[in-house]
Formats: sequence, structure tokens, C-alpha cells
Amino acid sequence: MSNELARVQWNRPLGAGYHHLCLSTSEAYAGARPGQFVMLEVAQGPAPLLRRPFSIHRRLAEGGAHRGIEILFKVVGDGTARLARRDVGDRLALLGPLGRGFVWRDGYRRVYLAAGGIGVAPLVFLLEDILPQIDREASAVFLGGRGQQDLLCREEFTRMGVAVHLTTDDGSCGQQCFLTDPLEAACATKPPDVIFACGPMEMLRCVAGIAARHKVSCQVSIEARMACGLGACLGCAVEGAAEAGDKYLHVCMDGPVFEAHRLRF
Ligand SMILES: Cc1cc2nc3c(=O)[nH]c(=O)nc-3n(C[C@H](O)[C@H](O)[C@H](O)COP(=O)(O)OP(=O)(O)OC[C@H]3O[C@@H](n4cnc5c(N)ncnc54)[C@H](O)[C@@H]3O)c2cc1C
Ligand code: FES
Repeated sequence: MSNELARVQWNRPLGAGYHHLCLSTSEAYAGARPGQFVMLEVAQGPAPLLRRPFSIHRRLAEGGAHRGIEILFKVVGDGTARLARRDVGDRLALLGPLGRGFVWRDGYRRVYLAAGGIGVAPLVFLLEDILPQIDREASAVFLGGRGQQDLLCREEFTRMGVAVHLTTDDGSCGQQCFLTDPLEAACATKPPDVIFACGPMEMLRCVAGIAARHKVSCQVSIEARMACGLGACLGCAVEGAAEAGDKYLHVCMDGPVFEAHRLRF
């Protein structure tokens, strides 16, 4: 883990409040795993805010050498609005890589990814990482959002050669439904070996239910408000499933990726 000043290489608006940020970092991030996150300073100045947690969207390498990490974020409040204004060359305090990422197990071949809105951020990194091991023809991505503007990274997934199912709440792109509808249908006809999911809690609850009904392994990446990201403040506790034996789990240390059956949704 490293605590360093990272330099902004680019910070590009993608429309609808989404931004693609690239930070040059030390080699400490060369071994970052999909699903891990960082605590990032969003602004300097007289009213400093706590660092905010963001998933690692990708690692940036050039000519085989590690250069930095990419982050995909959505402006939802003061901190992310300030981050959206950071410019090329700015230096931001960065702590990471943090937490436990997605776990890959021998025998996984058919993989379904379920990405709701900005939950897509860690799943691009994941698919790039596991691509050599999966059966691309039998794997799929289920991408959902409120509207067309919320369906990010479609081209990246398509380029990787897996089927992409698009759903929107307003019907502006793909099927007008929640992504859990085509996911459930696909699990009923061709159950995968594992589902990896990231998105709003309500979506993850539904994905976990689908996985349980179809007896499929499922890992979910969840969010919680975080002050430290390191297990010190205990502010990120969530309830564990009684049958799994954990009363509370801490998202920053035990997660953010969990086997779905360990959580009490
Ligand atoms: C492990 C982890 C990974 C994350 N990865 C990403 C990512 O890749 N891209 C991205 O855009 N965001 C990500 N987030 C969420 C991001 O941290 C918050 O959007 C950010 O902290 C909001 O800061 P703010 O000051 O702009 O908003 P605030 O002013 O703090 O809050 C604005 C609104 O957002 C809600 N909110 C704030 N933080 C969270 C949170 N952590 N979970 C749920 N609701 C929240 C608040 O309840 C409020 O309604 C991640 C969170 C966690 C815990
Ligand atoms: S954020 Fe402080 S313990 Fe998890």
C-alpha cells in the first residue's frame, strides 16, 4: 500500500456528470487487483474534505512499464464536483491500493458481469484481467442505467468479444427494464459459473437473489461511506448474513468485494 502524491494526467468529462481521470502513480499500483480501490484527495484549500473512495477502473501501462491508474467517476456531491475541476498537472494525495478485490477460482469459464451505472468502473478492469481464462462465447455483460447516457464502456466490452446486453429504465437504449431481467433469463437457460456484480445496493440485492435461485456463485462489490479506508474508523460496517457467521463486516477491509451469501441484504 502506498500513500503518495499522484499527478493528474487527464481528467476528461464524458457527459451527464461522468469523468474519466488518469493519475500517474508509483509502482505500488502495478500489482493492483480488479475490485480494489483508492482513497483520493478531491481538493486542496481552506476547507479540506475527507478523501473519497474510488474503484480502480484500469491500470495504465506504456511499453510494459507501469504508468498509473484510471478512475471513472460520477459527480454526485461536493467532493466529486471538486474532483471534476482538477486539472492536468495537479497533484492529489492518494492512498491505495486498498481492500479485497474480485477472486478468480480455477474452473470458472462462463462468466456474467452485471454493471449498474457507475458500477461499471471496476468491471472493465476485471474483464481485461480474466479474458484469457474465460469462454468468451458463453460469457456476457449485463449493463444497465437510467438512460443511454448512463451506459458507459460499451465499446470496451464489445471490443473484448463478449455479448453485451443493454437495459435502461427509460427505454432510451436497449431493453426497457432492469438489467436483472435479462440476467435472470440467461441464468435460467445457461447458468454461468460465476456472476460478478457492481452497482446500486438494490440491484445487488436482486442479483444475489438470482444467483441463489440458480445456485450460481456470486461476488458483489458494495459501497459504504468511508472515512479512513483502512479499518480504523469502523464507519463502513455492514451486516453480515447470520448463517455465514459474521455479525458485521467492514467494507474497506473485508471487501469491497464479498461473496454475496456473506452479506445480509
Ligand atoms: C469502495 C468504493 C468504490 C467506489 N468507486 C466509485 C467509482 O469508481 N466511481 C464513482 O463515481 N464513485 C465510486 N464510489 C462512490 C464515491 O466514493 C462517492 O460517490 C463519493 O464519495 C461522493 O462524494 P461527494 O463528496 O461528491 O458526495 P457527498 O456530498 O459525500 O454525497 C452526495 C450523495 O452521494 C451519496 N454517497 C456518497 N458517498 C457514497 C457512497 N460511498 N455510497 C453510496 N452513496 C454515497 C450521499 O449519500 C449523498 O446522497 C465508490 C465508493 C466506494 C465505497
Ligand atoms: S472506512 Fe474506516 S473502517 Fe472502513
